[in-house]
Amino acid sequence: MRIAHISDLHIVADGATLGVAPMAQNLARVVTDLNSVKPDLVLVSGDIANTAQLAETRRAAYILNQLQMPYYVTPGNHDDRGVLWEAFGGQAVPAREIGHLSYALNAGGYRIIGLDSSDPEHRNGMICDSRAAWLEAQLAEFGETPTLIFMHHPPVKCGVEETDNPPLKGAELLARVVSRHSQIERILCGHIHLPVQALWQGRQVCTAPSLGMRLRFDPNENKGSAFFVTPPAYLLHLHNADGELVSHQITLDEAAGPFGFG
Ligand SMILES: [Fe+2]
Repeated sequence: MRIAHISDLHIVADGATLGVAPMAQNLARVVTDLNSVKPDLVLVSGDIANTAQLAETRRAAYILNQLQMPYYVTPGNHDDRGVLWEAFGGQAVPAREIGHLSYALNAGGYRIIGLDSSDPEHRNGMICDSRAAWLEAQLAEFGETPTLIFMHHPPVKCGVEETDNPPLKGAELLARVVSRHSQIERILCGHIHLPVQALWQGRQVCTAPSLGMRLRFDPNENKGSAFFVTPPAYLLHLHNADGELVSHQITLDEAAGPFGFG
């Protein structure tokens, strides 16, 4: 079982995102790479569009539809739920009308849960009572099945000012649910445009890198918010022969090599 995780596509209708980041070209490169790597499925953890427009989201869908395996999408703070549903619907967003675009499915022995953490009023996301209750029911129903949750906003404070303040609203509701269910092997997120790993409530949180806009990480918080244009990158989670899930970062760069060890 191989699960690819891409995030923060920030597609614009035409041209480069914010004038410098070739995000549509990056997404096309990643799609080509994934068709070669052949994961069993691809999870896309939000910020599909850059300004939530239908034309942007449709352009992203057009490129993602070149994938030769199933893919699933969850909304970020740069997306609009209605627009996302209109552009993807059905297979890529297999959600019913429950007030949020959350859903669960079975794939390759895993339970995959797309948890909608978006809210128009909260750029750093929100888990409300109804989403927490929905998640609890999903986890309780399949308590023995290894589970991956993918959601846009990381529930853990990552040491990044832009996304820690304010933190994910309702993180304590999510914490209460997540801490009760040890079958959760990963909580896969995006939003911060940096690859980060943390143990939170006893569960492993992994954030995917952006497809080409890396946040300038400034632990001293005195440089101001900015990003670098970087080669596209994504995470690949491999189910190994011993039944463990191992996570790699794949970067499509122009590095020299490969060289033989001999
Ligand atoms: Fe983003």
